[in-house]
Amino acid sequence: MSGKKTSSHRRDFLRASTAVAAGGILLNATLPAGAYAQGSDEVRVGVIGCGGRGSGAAHNVLHSARNVTISALADAFEGNAKGLQDRLKKIASSDEKVKELGNKVEVPNDRVYSGLDAFQKIVDDPKINYVILATPPGFRSIHIAAAVKAKKNIFTEKPVCIDGPGARTCLAAFDEANTKGLAIAAGTQRRHQATYIETIKQLHEGAIGEITAARCYWNQGILWAREPKPEMTPVQAQVHNWYNNTWLCGDHIVEQHVHNLDVINWIMRAHPAKAVGMGHRTRTDPRYGHIFDFFAIDYEYPNGVHMLSMSRQISNCANSVSEAVVGTKGNCQVNQFMINGKSAVNRNLRNVDPYVQEHTDLIESIRAAKPINELKNVMESSLTAVMGRMSAYTGKEVSWNQALNSKLQLMPDNLTWETKLPDWTVAVPGKTPLI
Ligand SMILES: NC(=O)c1ccc[n+]([C@@H]2O[C@H](COP(=O)([O-])OP(=O)(O)OC[C@H]3O[C@@H](n4cnc5c(N)ncnc54)[C@H](O)[C@@H]3O)[C@@H](O)[C@H]2O)c1
Repeated sequence: MSGKKTSSHRRDFLRASTAVAAGGILLNATLPAGAYAQGSDEVRVGVIGCGGRGSGAAHNVLHSARNVTISALADAFEGNAKGLQDRLKKIASSDEKVKELGNKVEVPNDRVYSGLDAFQKIVDDPKINYVILATPPGFRSIHIAAAVKAKKNIFTEKPVCIDGPGARTCLAAFDEANTKGLAIAAGTQRRHQATYIETIKQLHEGAIGEITAARCYWNQGILWAREPKPEMTPVQAQVHNWYNNTWLCGDHIVEQHVHNLDVINWIMRAHPAKAVGMGHRTRTDPRYGHIFDFFAIDYEYPNGVHMLSMSRQISNCANSVSEAVVGTKGNCQVNQFMINGKSAVNRNLRNVDPYVQEHTDLIESIRAAKPINELKNVMESSLTAVMGRMSAYTGKEVSWNQALNSKLQLMPDNLTWETKLPDWTVAVPGKTPLI
């Protein structure tokens, strides 16, 4: 039997297994759930959100496995989509690793989409079996639901929700993806970083005994603000400057600190049961919208362990992006991979790029018909951050169920460039209601 025949038999087998895996029954004779085009294991990628991270993820997926083609691009703004189209052309023609892997960029002008509905063109394309979701967070749960409905495998950036309704959408999409045999990986890349994986494995094996306390920080200076262009509608101006608008970003505790909260949830194998916290804002420059300067949250896990979380964006202060845990037999500075003062990892583990590895893991799981689905984990970490923000904004203690069942939906329904936005104001603890 030739190697070619063997691999094509294997692919046929994998396709059948994927169909069986999708809920225990053979769904139908045609390919299910984000499967490959007939006779191919090609991964055909559509990128939704072509800014910094979408561009990075497109580059990463081209370095992650063989037989990957970037096929379509979508962005709210035409210039951003076209900018990535140009950059990808250069990568395809000059990047040695991409050539070595035989990967391609085939994005003609008629597969470069723009507008708030551009994502739908990608999820409706039957040839695309892998979408990268890298828009501002406020759109994410909508895009996840649409991609799962259209049976796409998903690489989604974090956070995946910025409010309770978005979390519930993700939970439903998680179940639907499992039923359909879809694979979903999240941009909480520490979960694909060999050094984190090894350190946390040792913690789970009891290296410091039972965990009794945890802390994590994302403390840095002010990030960025983008000036509106004169022709922009208010919605366009806020989407362009999304970081500073809670209805798009979730505030920085959700947008950035989710990474560190995710690490502690991973170690604890749970999400917190409640949060009580505080935060405030002193900046008055309207370019910075209505996000807070800082949050300090005391989270409590179901087993009574507390986690201190801090996230700050004030320049000229002490910075730290870190996670640490204390146990009955010692302590671990997780982000430094140090357990009881000694390195927990082998040096060569440090060489693997987690931003590439997350795509390798996702694609391998699809090709092996053993789809990974990280949506629930990342939803829980996103909602952990949301619960902290809700507590800081209102000044109230907030339970997991209050956050999950919250009726406060930040993204207006059926958003268009002309939508009249609610009159968002900066939250005032003690006055802003808990909804
Ligand atoms: N995992 C990581 O380490 C990491 C690092 C950076 C950013 N991120 C995440 O990636 C996401 C994007 O961040 P970024 O830094 O690339 O921002 P960015 O502003 O550079 O890019 C966002 C892009 O999305 C586009 N966009 C906005 N609304 C859209 C919509 N409805 N449909 C299609 N496109 C839309 C914007 O025009 C822009 O081009 C965020 O969720 C962020 O948290 C993750």
